[in-house]
Amino acid sequence: MNKLVVNTYKQPSRISRNIYGHFSEHLGRCIYGGLYVGENSPIPNVNGMRTDVVEALKRIKIPVLRWPGGCFADEYHWKDGIGDKKLRKRMVNTHWGGVVEDNSFGTHEFMELCRQLSCEPYVNGNVGSGTVQEMQEWVEYMTFDGDSPMARLRAENGHKQPWQLKYFGVGNENWGCGGNMTAEEYANQYRRYQTYVRNYGENRIYKIACGPNVSDYRWSEVLMREAAPYMDGLTLHHYSFCGEDFAHKGSALGFPEEEWYSLLHKALYMDTLIETHKGIMRRYDPEGRIGLLVDEWGAWHDVEPGTNPGFLYQQNTLRDAMVAAVTLNIFNKHSDRVRMANLAQTVNVLQSVILTEGEQMLLTPTYHVFDMYRDHQDAMLADSFIQSEKEGEGAYRIPTLQESASVAKDGTLTVTLANLSLGRDYEIDAVLLGAPSGKIEASLLGGRMDAYNSFEQPDKIQPQEFGSEVRRTSSGAAFKIPAHSILKLSVRP
Ligand code: AHR
Repeated sequence: MNKLVVNTYKQPSRISRNIYGHFSEHLGRCIYGGLYVGENSPIPNVNGMRTDVVEALKRIKIPVLRWPGGCFADEYHWKDGIGDKKLRKRMVNTHWGGVVEDNSFGTHEFMELCRQLSCEPYVNGNVGSGTVQEMQEWVEYMTFDGDSPMARLRAENGHKQPWQLKYFGVGNENWGCGGNMTAEEYANQYRRYQTYVRNYGENRIYKIACGPNVSDYRWSEVLMREAAPYMDGLTLHHYSFCGEDFAHKGSALGFPEEEWYSLLHKALYMDTLIETHKGIMRRYDPEGRIGLLVDEWGAWHDVEPGTNPGFLYQQNTLRDAMVAAVTLNIFNKHSDRVRMANLAQTVNVLQSVILTEGEQMLLTPTYHVFDMYRDHQDAMLADSFIQSEKEGEGAYRIPTLQESASVAKDGTLTVTLANLSLGRDYEIDAVLLGAPSGKIEASLLGGRMDAYNSFEQPDKIQPQEFGSEVRRTSSGAAFKIPAHSILKLSVRP
């Protein structure tokens, strides 16, 4: 029997709901066709936003949505995306498939989408090819409550009231697609651009600086050293793929067992990345004022055969769900510093929670993980530990069991547990110190390692009721978690 110990008397940090955030870029069919179909579409919509997708995202309590990129952000000029849609300037989306962007989805549409989703907007500004004035005017346009040139323009475009905007990113991946800058160069640019990201009226902006590519710790060190007082958040991007290099990522479907282990090994590396970043950030910000925001993460596979390589469309299996499960457990455990994370990307791109095809829509296995984990949002992290073995060959040996736990405001204890083993079920003896005495509920997401939902079989993989498999014991609970499955336990007060 493997021991799981949860100590609800020790609650080190609050798990920000924004850890369960998402990301939507003008890339492939994420915005167009995925989130937005336009007012005149035969697909049911409200002001152009797909009703089925909006409803599904509300069910997982989407807390925050990042937009318009990604690499697209640093070539996006916001004024092209306002005013009469017929007159909006068109542009070539050079990063993503070279398609013509008609800018029919712009600032007003994004804010409307966030209104419908009841989530916080996170807008990413353009440093790479935009001017300081352009960034300053965008913030004024969105948030100025009074008479100003940008506020007047906003009213002319049909929105007299300013929007509330908290999260604003000053550039994206400025070490790469956002301008190929050195850390020193970007730190200077960041200091300059952020000066003009103003707080108008009651609106308070949380300023976000572009962080490193994966383990480029030097970048983070320079940013913290040069610009810490001017930022509220520092980003981190980490994608998981199977191969040693980006050109050979491996397939989303039909992968061999070794790639189960190598992908999850990459995903678990998130723990080291965060731990090391916490060390760097502590040196310059010992009080922990600045948040680490993992605003791009997820599994990145080769595109589905026959699809546009620039659209990054991939299927999503139980293996991807496992990537989400272990990553969200890691974020929960580092919630003292990780204040936001945004899975890339919401619909039809990379590790999506939703796929669409015309008017059809399906929920991916990853969606179900977000659904199972949603009770962690804004709950207090509870101290936890699980006894685990290791499996996998050579460099890709990974722990077989991994967990996190939290206590919600109403006292409910939630434990989310992943069994990463491909071959072994585990008997778990769960010691739940200080757990409530009410009903134990449980649900389980499992199946073949490469099971996925298709438009022909959209519900092939979804959570199953598991409560009847859980026995109460004098110290907590006991159950058997099947190989390659994800379990959620709720203990009610
Ligand atoms: O999510 C796809 C791309 O990955 C984003 O545009 C970019 O920021 C990252 O490299």
